[in-house]
Amino acid sequence: MSKKGIFITLLAVIVAAGSGYFGARKQFSGAVNNDTASATSLLNVSRTSGTGAAGAALLATNASGKIITVKPGQLIQEAVNQAVSGDTIQVFPGTYSETVYIDKDNISLIGVIQEGKWPILDGMSKLNDAVLYSGNGIRVENLKIVKFKGNAIMGQAGNNFVIRHNWIIDTGVYGIFPQFGQNGLIEYNVLSGIEDAAIYVGMSDNIHVAHNEVFGNVAGIEIENSRHAMVENNMVYDNAGGILTFITPGLPIKTTFDVIIRNNFIVGNNHKNFGAPGSIVSGVPSGTGVIVMAADDVVIENNIIRDNKNAGIIVSDHKSFANITIDPESDPYPDRVQILKNLFANNGTEPIQEIQALMLASMTRQGPDIVAVGGGTGSCMVDRAAHSTLGISGWAATCAKATSANITTLLLDKPAEPRKTDTASKGEVLYKGICAGCHTYGGRMIGPPTKIIQAMYAGNAQGIADYIAKPTKKRDDFPPMPSQGHLNPDMRLKVAEYMLSVKQ
Ligand code: HEC
Repeated sequence: MSKKGIFITLLAVIVAAGSGYFGARKQFSGAVNNDTASATSLLNVSRTSGTGAAGAALLATNASGKIITVKPGQLIQEAVNQAVSGDTIQVFPGTYSETVYIDKDNISLIGVIQEGKWPILDGMSKLNDAVLYSGNGIRVENLKIVKFKGNAIMGQAGNNFVIRHNWIIDTGVYGIFPQFGQNGLIEYNVLSGIEDAAIYVGMSDNIHVAHNEVFGNVAGIEIENSRHAMVENNMVYDNAGGILTFITPGLPIKTTFDVIIRNNFIVGNNHKNFGAPGSIVSGVPSGTGVIVMAADDVVIENNIIRDNKNAGIIVSDHKSFANITIDPESDPYPDRVQILKNLFANNGTEPIQEIQALMLASMTRQGPDIVAVGGGTGSCMVDRAAHSTLGISGWAATCAKATSANITTLLLDKPAEPRKTDTASKGEVLYKGICAGCHTYGGRMIGPPTKIIQAMYAGNAQGIADYIAKPTKKRDDFPPMPSQGHLNPDMRLKVAEYMLSVKQ
């Protein structure tokens, strides 16, 4: 295709995709503004999602139960303490400064938007997290969350969650972070100013991430050690890296596969990388649209990927990436990556040195729309002659399936069973649901490696349990560890014992 041809098609697709995106958004906020008082109508605004019956089922879960209102001067946590399964907590406009911890099932925490005024959770740059939940069937909606140091909304092993229509600005390490959850919908959120990933799906399954707007973060959307994830119709711009799917070595769940990345705008992700030094995301070269690292069966289709100055898409194995410690239990290679039709333009104008070296070796001056480094088998890319590619000469030129359009969602048809929480598995669920968000076995994540902690605390689980109740600052080159004081002493001991037993 000639250059002119590319731009004409590009324009047509922008118009088409744009009208879908903004059309859906307008409908949505109209419904919220028109009706602020009644929970039932708030709960009924949701049917514009493109997630099919599974998405509708998730959105319908909490329509029963009573409504508990929270007004400025009151604590949201008190409403949570009063609530029982099925209840809805309505938070009225005003500013609230607290960490809300939801350890019950089927609770909806929903902001009321009146005349454009939202409820604001303000961490005042002091509090660590805004909303933590460990219950199943949790819904968090219509909140503005600003100035926290850790996470805006973190799920700790909660299944069947809905996180939608929140504004999350400058909330520390992660914005929306479901960890070890199954069957969840993350849609219509706006996130900016996050030091690691704005939307971080960690060790989770069956997730739908759609219609979000993420900009000015280190990583926009990250699907990590997770399976069956759909990432579609998002606006992803001005991050250091746009959409990332990979395996972080050293986490208790060892694979990432079946990820569909489609119909997204992935544009101008050239923000300076302000990730914590030594962290995996700090190794993401600024200017990268999409990164697939060691993940399998990833489909990339019908995205607009342009103006990313390093590269449009990087496909890499673990060995070729910065700040990675190999995990012998994870396959380090990305296999069966399928790059279907996408629109690429103006990527790779200022690639990093490693990519420049590859360009030199292939005698091209054109920076890459797509570059693959390291091993991996079974991958394909269609339409490749029209694009600037490096390192994919071994890939097939046709893919087995021409489109993923017949798949509307990877959510489950029925709600997932809750995680087992009997005494024997409690430590494991807590470790996977909480600690593995920051500690990997052998490498550096947000906190020091579990291996090092095991050496420090050999035979002393109680020492760990005491530390995490009231962590003190120990290392100059790490951030402070947030208190786990919301866990009772028995839970702290169980998770400490599990931490000491982790092997890889
Ligand atoms: C939000 C990130 C985060 C989470 C979640 C987290 N940690 Fe940490 N952890 C850290 C950081 C950062 C440090 C280093 C703090 C320092 O050195 O000042 C740390 C340090 C530690 C230490 C070392 C203490 C010492 O004496 O040096 C232990 C033990 C620990 N964490 C246990 C846990 C356990 C158990 C959990 C889960 C219940 C957990 N952490 C969850 C970030 C986290």
